[in-house]
Amino acid sequence: MNEIVIAPSILSLDYSNVSAQLEELKASKAKWLHFDVMDGHFVPNLTFGPDILKGFKKACPLFMDVHLMVEDPKTYAPIFIQNGADLVTFHTEALDNDLSRIQGLLDEIHNLGAKGGIVVKPNTAIEPFESVLKSCDLVLVMSVEPGFGGQKFMADMLKKVEWLKEKRQELNLSYRIEIDGGINQDTYKSALDAGCDTLVAGSYVFKNDITKTIEGMLA
Ligand code: DX5
Ligand code: ZN
Repeated sequence: MNEIVIAPSILSLDYSNVSAQLEELKASKAKWLHFDVMDGHFVPNLTFGPDILKGFKKACPLFMDVHLMVEDPKTYAPIFIQNGADLVTFHTEALDNDLSRIQGLLDEIHNLGAKGGIVVKPNTAIEPFESVLKSCDLVLVMSVEPGFGGQKFMADMLKKVEWLKEKRQELNLSYRIEIDGGINQDTYKSALDAGCDTLVAGSYVFKNDITKTIEGMLA
């Protein structure tokens, strides 16, 4: 069983008060930061480029979990790795769900010295990706449509988590299972019970007391 990790999503940071919140995160029980990269094409929103990642890593040297919501992850994965990404996840849909392209990008991420994994949107089944699981350090299940923080948790997505947990045992693998979207006081327990070991939480952490909210999910 992997250790439970909380990955606060900086998408919901209060950008009028960044330093104080990064100091609080550094002192908290969060070991990861979740960094959402959106290109305005793959999802209808725009966020951060590689220079911003570099600055965050310097100010708050936690494990950087970079979630690429971009049309061209093959171009951007290496750039984010050069700028501080410890783990990069990319959407299967951005590579037309093509297994050989997905395998190729996972191999490239590993060759660059980072950890890597796949992400699926709510309407994308997870079963077709069984053959690439052996190359994933983590599999990310979206429990909202990617693009925005603060949306409602889609409990149906826990079926994907349960399948990933069973497959991990059957195939004798050790990838982490991460969930992203709508994690809060009402939903985090069901995610852990289904088999998630890595919880992304944005609005829940940053709209409340950061330290206590993270500790509450680890209690
Ligand atoms: C949404 C992002 C999430 C987002 C989650 O596309 O991938 O990481 O920050 O926000 P909450 O936790 O508020 O649902
Ligand atoms: Zn995310």
